[in-house]
Amino acid sequence: MGNVILTGFMGCGKSSLGIKLSYRLRMALLDTDKIIEKEQGCTITELFEQRGEEAFRQLETQCIKDIGKKKDFYIISVGGGLPIKEENRKLLKDLGLVVYLRIRPETVYERLKEDTTRPLLQGDNPQEKIRKLMEQRKSFYEDGADLIVDVDDADVEQVIYEIAQCYRKRQGRKRKNKKERTGKEKEE
Ligand code: S3P
Repeated sequence: MGNVILTGFMGCGKSSLGIKLSYRLRMALLDTDKIIEKEQGCTITELFEQRGEEAFRQLETQCIKDIGKKKDFYIISVGGGLPIKEENRKLLKDLGLVVYLRIRPETVYERLKEDTTRPLLQGDNPQEKIRKLMEQRKSFYEDGADLIVDVDDADVEQVIYEIAQCYRKRQGRKRKNKKERTGKEKEE
């Protein structure tokens, strides 16, 4: 399908880059965390506290399944832990171009040290939590991605340009393949 999916660790800029990309490609932006919060009528922190992480993970899977049923294409920003599940990685691939916004742990810490909305990074030693989680997840992000972009010191405009170019090329290729297929079918 022709969506653009932004993945990556907490704080990598999925939401802010998503807004810019949404303007550039003229596609609406969806955010799995925001959809879940709206549907459940509570914050992610409350969800983790009241129902636990596993319940949240199930809601994430359901959320991307529901997005797959939509007719239009979107820029989709997904929660940082969503690509950990193999089932989710497959669902994301089917949805479209999967972009992994890669970031260094030190940059995450700098960006999120005052943040209170990420339950997995609260409490003692957030630096160690970030380092460990990132180590566990690295290969899942990389395996699931069609395009990897390093975002730490990157120019935002350059990142947007790179993703938009990659998406347009892919969509162009798809259209060409479709034309060639229908052309052949007509000849036969
Ligand atoms: C999580 C990332 C968060 C949110 C939840 C869990 C994770 O989203 O889904 O707190 O497991 O990495 P962001 O990546 O948008 O911060």
